[in-house]
Amino acid sequence: MRAQVNTDRLWDSHMEMAKIGATPKGGVCRLSLTGEDKVSRDLFVQWAKEAGCDIRVDTVGNIFARRAGTDPDAAPVVTGSHLDTQPLGGRFDGAYGVLAGLEVVRALNDANVETRAPIDIVVWTDEEGCRFTTKTMGSATFAGLRPEQEVLDGVDPDGKRFGDELARIGYAGTEPCGGFDIAAYFETHIEQGPILEDEGIPVGAVVGAQGQRCFEVTVTGEEGHAGTLPMDQRKDAYLGAARMADALNAVAFTFQPMPVITVGHVRVRPNSRNTIPGQTVFTIDSRHPRNETLVEMKTAMQAACERIAADMGLGLEMVETSVSPVVSFDEDLVQSVRDAADELGIPCCDMFSGAGHDACKIAAVAPAAMVFVPCKDGISHNELEDATPDDLAAGTAVLLKAVVATANRA
Ligand code: GLV
Ligand code: MN
Ligand code: MN
Repeated sequence: MRAQVNTDRLWDSHMEMAKIGATPKGGVCRLSLTGEDKVSRDLFVQWAKEAGCDIRVDTVGNIFARRAGTDPDAAPVVTGSHLDTQPLGGRFDGAYGVLAGLEVVRALNDANVETRAPIDIVVWTDEEGCRFTTKTMGSATFAGLRPEQEVLDGVDPDGKRFGDELARIGYAGTEPCGGFDIAAYFETHIEQGPILEDEGIPVGAVVGAQGQRCFEVTVTGEEGHAGTLPMDQRKDAYLGAARMADALNAVAFTFQPMPVITVGHVRVRPNSRNTIPGQTVFTIDSRHPRNETLVEMKTAMQAACERIAADMGLGLEMVETSVSPVVSFDEDLVQSVRDAADELGIPCCDMFSGAGHDACKIAAVAPAAMVFVPCKDGISHNELEDATPDDLAAGTAVLLKAVVATANRA
């Protein structure tokens, strides 16, 4: 019997997982290392054990669920993604990669198919990066791109420490983070953009991902009484930050092809309705498909913020919090995705990822590739994010074929 993806089982697993942290508009809020994250991890571990997998958890909370292969010395083929979400996130971003991996194992079990190399389904810790310092924390640490202690010591806006929160939810594992060979890493994901849907193509073979530089900007002014201090005598840090946000948006339009620049998180101090804000801290997320352009953008963004700070008599500090260079995925693995789609008769096109993914970090230490499927109207990081059972199954069928081919390669 040939291993076959079960479309209904895959969809039902998504709907079951989406109940954890469900939001009123049909989305999901499952911030990293919260109670909801724990419940989703527990459900995955339960399902993986029921599918016969052995579970390992490493020191930053990455979960590996292994289906044994026939060659005890072979390095695993790893596939997965993340279960944490944005505050107003959707049901498929991350969860799809994990549940597609689980469906691969379930389908192989149904058909009694063995592979030479073991298959690990992985759940990376804190991909989204909206609670602690930066994104892809678990995979970046695994790949040696982030010092483990720095990750464990990161704090959320309430001062809660990553390592303490990990222990609190019961996922501070004992396996060392990283340090074992991965034969190949595949990640399935919704596209999070409109291309596949517009083209009517159900599967994308992802050849690479754009680069990203993130910053934290601290603007310092002076607190003052909202009723008594005349307008021309104020040093309003929030007003300065707002002008900077506008200027940063304008910077994006001066580069071609157009980059993306987002000010997405703002903290105002003291955040009181009748005190002029004395300090404002905001984040910048800047992305572009060329590394050189990202550096030029950084210079232009810094100049724009400095000009406004000088004009308004405000203090300014701009700290780069992360740099993710442009990534090219492994040509052989990308070809195995194209071949799998071709053999299944599923239309497939090459594409480039606008979003960052755990695969971008793992590409530093192992051959990596991604499979994209369409999402409705290209909407993601939004409660309305949606995908069809058939598209999810098509991407998973391609994953299954590519994983098995790679795991059986001598
Ligand atoms: C991941 O969600 C990203 O920000 O690209
Ligand atoms: Mn994701
Ligand atoms: Mn995301």
